[in-house]
Amino acid sequence: MCGIVGYCGPKAAAPVLLEGLKRLEYRGYDSAGLSVCVDSKVEIFKRAGKIHDLREVVPEDLPGTHGVGHTRWATHGEVTDKNAHPHVSADRNIAVVHNGIIENFSSLRSRLTEEGYVFESDTDSEVIAHLIQKFYQGDLERAVKQALGLLKGTYGVVCMHAGEPGVLVGARHGSPLLLGVGDNEMFLASDVTAVLAHTKQVIHLEDGEVVRVTAADYTATDLRDRKIEKEVETIGWELEEIEKNGYEHYMEKEIFEQPDSIFRAMQGRIDQENATGHLGGLNMSRGELLDVQRVRIIAAGTSYYAGMVGAYVLENMARVPAQAELASEIRYRNPIVERNTVYFAVSQSGETADTLSALRELQRKGARVLGICNVVGSSIPRESDGGVYIHSGPEIAVASTKAFTSQLTAFYLFTLLIARMRDMSLEAGVSFTKELARVPDTVREVLSRADEVRRVAERYYQARNFLFLGRGINYPVALEGALKLKEISYVHAEGYSAAEIKHGPIALINEETPSLFIVPDDGLRDKVISNMKEVKARRGPVIALGVDGDNELADIADDVLFVPKTDELLYPYLMVVPLQLFAYYAALKLGRNVDQPRNLAKSVTVE
Ligand code: F6R
Repeated sequence: MCGIVGYCGPKAAAPVLLEGLKRLEYRGYDSAGLSVCVDSKVEIFKRAGKIHDLREVVPEDLPGTHGVGHTRWATHGEVTDKNAHPHVSADRNIAVVHNGIIENFSSLRSRLTEEGYVFESDTDSEVIAHLIQKFYQGDLERAVKQALGLLKGTYGVVCMHAGEPGVLVGARHGSPLLLGVGDNEMFLASDVTAVLAHTKQVIHLEDGEVVRVTAADYTATDLRDRKIEKEVETIGWELEEIEKNGYEHYMEKEIFEQPDSIFRAMQGRIDQENATGHLGGLNMSRGELLDVQRVRIIAAGTSYYAGMVGAYVLENMARVPAQAELASEIRYRNPIVERNTVYFAVSQSGETADTLSALRELQRKGARVLGICNVVGSSIPRESDGGVYIHSGPEIAVASTKAFTSQLTAFYLFTLLIARMRDMSLEAGVSFTKELARVPDTVREVLSRADEVRRVAERYYQARNFLFLGRGINYPVALEGALKLKEISYVHAEGYSAAEIKHGPIALINEETPSLFIVPDDGLRDKVISNMKEVKARRGPVIALGVDGDNELADIADDVLFVPKTDELLYPYLMVVPLQLFAYYAALKLGRNVDQPRNLAKSVTVE
């Protein structure tokens, strides 16, 4: 969603801000802007459209060494130049960039309008600039705090004042903000990717914290002026990880990175000798693990589908009742929190508003919530009671790929851990861990067949409707395959349990609606084959995604893709990769913006 970058230091601010905004592009946005303080004047440049549109209106030699920049993903007000950030106060001395939603903006706007403030935009954010002006008496930080005290909703905000050159004030409440500490230069950003080219030293702000920043120094306080000591953390990501490194798109790079990212997620966490998982961050004693009687998983989108696979594996291998639920639903459902239940909040970004709110609601009710997250230092891992970092490295493409397979890894490891404390024998554990450890190699083998997937995708890319069908543990994989296709190619796709089509969706089948069936060699294979025949009998084109050596598939399906053989419970890893590739190649052929599909944002920090 929206992105923020702020800079103060010795360099010209505009190029630093433009570069930071470019790094934030991946989050999804529809307009961009920046403001730099030049000769005690706040200069504003903003444009609906892309960063290159903004670049065209920013003078190349713009002086000024402190400023703020923003990428906007519209919530209140259309995508126009005037609604882009930064927003300025009526006296044009204050510039503000804001992420989040101000829920009481309309009453604040009416009050300010009555007091004579003239609004230039339709956004909720503009009220912040006018409120700061209202309270300003020579101290930006003070005025910002007074203004924030009146806001209801969420914000990550950065402000500057023409009369205080070299000073930025940032604050956070429900929308991420971090401080990048450089060598006599400082950055404020909503996302570490915006500062990684300059520094790896960062300070994550917590909700309710305000930071006043100059090139050489910073002070963190709360809204009541109490000083807060902050710890500087070193980011483990490398700059190369946020570059395309020769790939055409981030999505392609991230799909092909999966052998490595899965390996990183399992590295040091498989205890081969005892055939169990080793997860240091759970903060649970052996006794507490033994007492777990139920697992509930909360997440959104792709992370939710990974959670569905996780629930299946937990029930099947560890015989622990487990269920995945949409975070957006559970948070308003007044959930019943039972004893000996462990909750997992699964999120690549660690910032998804629905998942974070569900976590908080569950914790309020006394639940133990563990996080399964990628972005280190993000809100969910910071607020959870323990958990697992999946170490996928930065996921830049909006469509999630490598995070999914690493989230699976976290679930397999947790399952192994508690299954081995229960009924799973050493022998069964040894055989499973061996196969699990082989997954990076088998995924590499699947990726080596990418051209076959490309060929099939290029044959079907013009279809306007698609069905993805799977059963059992591969049912969530079918859902994920449909999600990938629809979000990046804008082709309507539905994921269904193959068994369910006869209860309705089979009515959609005709010569123009292809169905992709996931057909592993498990106990449900023959049932899925019957479902395939039902579709074929109605002249529906069929693509089968099966296992090496399953020669019968070619007799039924129009096209067949194969993956290598593995343990029945591990097929989600191997089946999802061709589906990611299928969506990628179809979207390419359709000429879509693969990395930044329309209307979507990378981390959904608003409800
Ligand atoms: C799909 C996708 C989204 C996210 C969802 C949750 O490709 O990217 O569906 O999976 O918004 O995001 P996280 O995992 O960051 O909580």
